[in-house]
Amino acid sequence: MFDPDSYREQSRRIWGEMASGWRDRNDWMMRVTGPVNAWLVENLDPQPGQSILEVASGTGELGFLVAERVGSEGRVISTDFSPAMVEVAGRFGEARGASNVEHKVLDAEQMDLDEASVDGVVCRWGYMLMADPAAALKESRRVLRPGGRFAFAVWASPELNPWAAVPGMTLVQRGHMPPPEPGAPGIFAMADPARINDLVTGAGFPEPEIQEIAFTFDYPDSDDVWEAIVRIAGPLAEVINHLDEDEREATRAAILENLAGFRNEDGSYSAPAASWGIVSGR
Ligand SMILES: C[S@@+](CC[C@H](N)C(=O)[O-])C[C@H]1O[C@@H](n2cnc3c(N)ncnc32)[C@H](O)[C@@H]1O
Repeated sequence: MFDPDSYREQSRRIWGEMASGWRDRNDWMMRVTGPVNAWLVENLDPQPGQSILEVASGTGELGFLVAERVGSEGRVISTDFSPAMVEVAGRFGEARGASNVEHKVLDAEQMDLDEASVDGVVCRWGYMLMADPAAALKESRRVLRPGGRFAFAVWASPELNPWAAVPGMTLVQRGHMPPPEPGAPGIFAMADPARINDLVTGAGFPEPEIQEIAFTFDYPDSDDVWEAIVRIAGPLAEVINHLDEDEREATRAAILENLAGFRNEDGSYSAPAASWGIVSGR
């Protein structure tokens, strides 16, 4: 039985534990996931002087790109429910001199923000992880002013995302994780465009446009593939990091073997990835 409260507590803890991995891999992440950020910024279309809310912002990089568009008269409210992630984003903001970005701990399912208080809401890879994405989408609509824009990304199907589906499937095969429950939160929980449409319109937004954004996760070698899994892959990392040493090594070997089809001749890896980009408004 899915218990939303214990899921939320566990999720916040796991993402807090991932914060240092996301910090250390930030440059790599920005480089390989650039097409998704570009799509989101273009479709959010932030204007100088606007206030934009970023939901589940992790290290905050998408918000920093938005901040360049809204300029010194505008502001970005960069938020995440993990205080450790917000701290990382705050440090990156200071290092960039992003004085128009405010960092705040905020649960997307229950936002401590006024109704109709922002001109745009943006989120990359957040809603599908939430215990109650319908509540988070309703909150996103509540804080958005009439006429405001809403753009977000979630992961498309496992078949289009072997970089995550293969390690997940390997953990299931080895008995370390149950297969994902339909409808439960997780990386592929919003992979079905019909569900996205129902959730978005159910929250009161007009019918969204949904587009596929394909890109590639590149890793210089197998050590890097493994590091990416154990330091940033949230729930998968949590499972692996609790295995005993022998099983951890055997799991590493099994995951790399299952990813062998994505290994290049020089030992680097290129694994396909695809997100849905969704845009709507109020
Ligand atoms: C996969 S990471 C994505 C981070 C960032 N948006 C990016 O694309 O680089 C998911 C993030 O969602 C955050 N998150 C999960 N559930 C949340 C919730 N209910 N409210 C706010 N943030 C949440 C986690 O703390 C984590 O930082």
